[in-house]
Amino acid sequence: MNEASELLEKLRARRTLDIGEYEALLNGYSRELAEKAAHAAREKRDAVFGRQVYVRGLIEISSVCRNDCLYCGIRRSNHKCERYTLTDDEIIDCCDKGYSYGYRTFVLQSGEGALATARVCGIVSRIKQKYPDYAVTLSLGELPFEDYKRLKEAGADRYLLRHETADREHYRLLHPPEMSFDYRMTCLRELKRLGFQTGCGFMVGSPGQSAKTLAKDLKFVEEFRPAMCGIGPFIPHKDTPFAKEPAGTLEQTLFLLSLLRLISPGILLPATTALGTIAPNGRELGLEAGANVVMPNLSPTGVRKKYSLYDNKICTGEEAAECVGCLEKRVASVGMRIVTDRGDTKVK
Ligand code: 5AD
Ligand code: FES
Repeated sequence: MNEASELLEKLRARRTLDIGEYEALLNGYSRELAEKAAHAAREKRDAVFGRQVYVRGLIEISSVCRNDCLYCGIRRSNHKCERYTLTDDEIIDCCDKGYSYGYRTFVLQSGEGALATARVCGIVSRIKQKYPDYAVTLSLGELPFEDYKRLKEAGADRYLLRHETADREHYRLLHPPEMSFDYRMTCLRELKRLGFQTGCGFMVGSPGQSAKTLAKDLKFVEEFRPAMCGIGPFIPHKDTPFAKEPAGTLEQTLFLLSLLRLISPGILLPATTALGTIAPNGRELGLEAGANVVMPNLSPTGVRKKYSLYDNKICTGEEAAECVGCLEKRVASVGMRIVTDRGDTKVK
């Protein structure tokens, strides 16, 4: 066995490596190594979850954003981005639609600062009143502690806030000077402390990323023990400063999904839309690498193109109403099956 295979074996057995070892493992990438990692990851996942894939309806409630992240198509400096905000009734309509498909969990996502927290609290309570068996996940960016607290009290169950990178210098390269790495990490800790099932995550192949920064991401996930971790390839958006940067690769994203599964067997790992965008069967391959969540888009078809974080996003055309059936077939094609219950965390 070479060094990388030994490290993979060690990770599989102990679920922990030091940062230097994660880096060596990432640098030791080969197709055989990735295949071994995927095999071990499937085994761990199936031991916890069986062949079940959780489904979360994604509702993109607003493309308004006060931030200016260099990679993101809805950054405030992108004047070509068409801004919209769904009405409360439109959001409830999306939930109704999801309910009729049997979904019991929803993610309300928007740019940062798009809706006043009081308004989101109202929407969350309305959803909870109408559908007490729904799990409500929010993905609204960085907010003051008090706001997170109010959202929790209004009934929100989960919160997704990708950390984007666990390396301070790398964080600075991806974000405008007014954004703070420390504050982002503080937000994640506060969300967890408030009792949210908390999700972090990062892009794969973002400008300035290296095996060293990725090693820190893996260590961060190991130590933070999030309920979820969203990862997908970086994909350039034409109207951002990173327009000319290369996209992340399918292979590296799949390898990282497998390593995350080995670190945390009970973690919720989505096969993301970005993964489905860089390869037609990207999400199926994501499931085969150890993912166990899919997130069909439930946003009204008319707004989906406007919520463009990156170029060529799938599920935005006329076929978009069909995400539900499409995903069911894709999941079945890898011998798994969609389950519609809340799918709460199994991270112990
Ligand atoms: N490519 C891939 N993912 C992106 N995100 C934002 N912009 C891009 C891009 N260009 C991801 C970020 C953010 C999440 C909502 O989408 O990680 O947290
Ligand atoms: Fe949206 Fe396939 S998942 S069309």
